[in-house]
Amino acid sequence: EWTAANVVDQLVDAVREQIGTGRVICGLSGGVDSSVAAALVQRAVGDQLTCVFVDHGLLRAGEAEQVQQDFVAATGVDLVTVDAADRFLDALAGVSDPEEKRKIIGREFIRVFEQAARDIVGEHAADGDHPVEFLVQGTLYPDVVESGGGSGTANIKSHHNVGGLPDDLQFTLVEPLRLLFKDEVRQVGLELGVPEGIVWRQPFPGPGLGIRIVGEVTKERLDILRAADRIARHELSEAGLDREIWQCPVVLLADVRSVGVQGDGRTYGHPVVLRPVSSEDAMTADWTRLPYEVLARISTRITNEVREVNRVVLDVTSKPPGTIEWE
Ligand code: XMP
Repeated sequence: EWTAANVVDQLVDAVREQIGTGRVICGLSGGVDSSVAAALVQRAVGDQLTCVFVDHGLLRAGEAEQVQQDFVAATGVDLVTVDAADRFLDALAGVSDPEEKRKIIGREFIRVFEQAARDIVGEHAADGDHPVEFLVQGTLYPDVVESGGGSGTANIKSHHNVGGLPDDLQFTLVEPLRLLFKDEVRQVGLELGVPEGIVWRQPFPGPGLGIRIVGEVTKERLDILRAADRIARHELSEAGLDREIWQCPVVLLADVRSVGVQGDGRTYGHPVVLRPVSSEDAMTADWTRLPYEVLARISTRITNEVREVNRVVLDVTSKPPGTIEWE
């Protein structure tokens, strides 16, 4: 009989058997898969696990705290946070091309993670403790199938799946979720006490808000987008729409300005785009027909509360031809 409790027991046993008394590290992104994989390994081998969270400064409001406070409190994992926001901003300065932004974010992410991994390896080597031998990946069954069923090699699907580690930093992969589907991973996560906000999180791209600012990424623009995005997410949740929509990117058109009138005067601010989509697997998507009242509330609140934004527009394009993200 499939129950989350049975599955957790079996997976915990298997992870214990694989890792033995070895040491293991895991990169956390705040997403469902890496969080559940980390919680499972923590349940299996406790403080033999060290988690690494690279804060690239491109997360949405409250997400870093969700990992650093809620997740740690719920699971007891040993977490090393690397605050790399300035480093990412410096690397992104002056860049507006989408592919270039993605490359830079991916490259910096691997460098920062690699350095953190080296530090942890070095620390434990100096302790005369067991060397770090294992790396946890939140690979799911559909990822395994997609990549031809191979195992034992880091699957470099996108930058936040930590791939491309150098040869002198060899790890054996631990992939406890590799036979599970997404809905099963969520059940397992709930069984392990992973916070609901993480278990039910909608997809969010590894490059984060960096690819939701059309134009150069700056701290000011990130703050504007974070404020608008927080309002949209709050209102969608309040309306009970979280599980109906696949995700709803909010995109800041940072190089576009339009004339408006706010308070007593003329403004010349930026538009944000709402991109609510319905989808089964993100390969294709339809734009979600959100209730007008919800759209109205989001629009009113964003233009009232985020001074730099004077227009809210709705993206009514399916995928194809439009991708879900704008970059
Ligand atoms: P697109 O924009 O290609 O997005 O229609 C499809 C789905 O993938 C997410 N996405 C990413 N996820 N790293 C990720 O982990 C990425 O670089 C990335 N780019 C897009 C997107 O949010 C949507 O769910």
